[in-house]
Amino acid sequence: MRIGILNGGGDCPGLNAVTHGVVGAATRLGWQVVGFRDGFEGLLPPGDFQILTTASTTGILKLGGTILGTTNRGHFSGKAGEGGVMKIPAELIEKARRTLKSLEVEALIVVGGDGTLTTALQFHEAGIPVIGVPKTIDNDLEATTMTFGFDSAVSFVVEALDRLHWTAQSHKRAMVVEVMGRHAGWIALFGGIGGGANAILIPEIPFQLSEVARKVRERDAAGLHSSLIVVAEGAKQEGGEQIYKTEDLAGGEFKLGGIGDRVAKEIERLTGKEARSCTLGHLQRGGSPTSWDRVLATRFGVKAVSMIEEGNFGRMVSYQQYQVGSVPIADAVCHLKLVDPDGEIVQTARSVGIVFGDGV
Ligand code: F6P
Repeated sequence: MRIGILNGGGDCPGLNAVTHGVVGAATRLGWQVVGFRDGFEGLLPPGDFQILTTASTTGILKLGGTILGTTNRGHFSGKAGEGGVMKIPAELIEKARRTLKSLEVEALIVVGGDGTLTTALQFHEAGIPVIGVPKTIDNDLEATTMTFGFDSAVSFVVEALDRLHWTAQSHKRAMVVEVMGRHAGWIALFGGIGGGANAILIPEIPFQLSEVARKVRERDAAGLHSSLIVVAEGAKQEGGEQIYKTEDLAGGEFKLGGIGDRVAKEIERLTGKEARSCTLGHLQRGGSPTSWDRVLATRFGVKAVSMIEEGNFGRMVSYQQYQVGSVPIADAVCHLKLVDPDGEIVQTARSVGIVFGDGV
């Protein structure tokens, strides 16, 4: 038997570990694995692919990025349509089917986030046997407690905060750190708690700059002359809008960015203290996966192969209550997993004195 694998959307530490797991498990079953390059683009006839073997994937477990390449643009990333669903033209799906048939690929593993899995779901609905594997550093996919890549991103944010702490303290400054998180503030929340932030601003809790400034002033009055503020790129002020860097309509999405600068400028104005901002950007997506992400990604890859063996198509691998299982892809893409503003993790942060700028 021959199976295929592709990676879609933004890259993420652990993608190669999934491929490594898939090739390992498939090879033991006597199957061959075809790796399609640059996401769904690799499925366009005649197909852009490489045969993946144990020899060609040895050592990739620990590598960042993806040896297969990926894209969050291209032919298969339609614009958001009614109800946010991206409709892929039927003729494109037929082209992909032709490629798979000509290469004798009987099932396809699609590793990606919300957009990629939405395309995978349409392949499934068109009768192509697919298995989804969840991937996003933002950890905002419903139906899985965790995606691989998240732990690596959070670890990087924590390391960055540890470093910025020293320079902020030396100069008695407020340091604003902008992190990824378009709709969900998981990276900011976990990174902020782990890195000892004093304020965390996330998309789920609109903030007031006066409240953030109050925290900075309070610390100053207590003799703590530096403050660390973590802000998710998608956070917005109460009654305000998200801040965009550029309009990038090709993929149907705008590029977020600039909220960190805005917060730093306003904190300086409101407190009279010096403030600086630092955007961590794609550094959060680069680098090797953490040990947790390597293990989780391997488990996801192996599970995807066993789901093919069982003929369990149209489903996504998921991690829930310490177990790797599966859910229908449709359940995973219908809505995002957001931070609960009243949930335990936000309460924990508040309990150690972290503010969210909402006056609570
Ligand atoms: O989906 C993950 C993410 O990291 C978002 O938080 C961010 O807005 C986006 O990717 C940026 O992706 P790119 O620069 O590759 O378009």
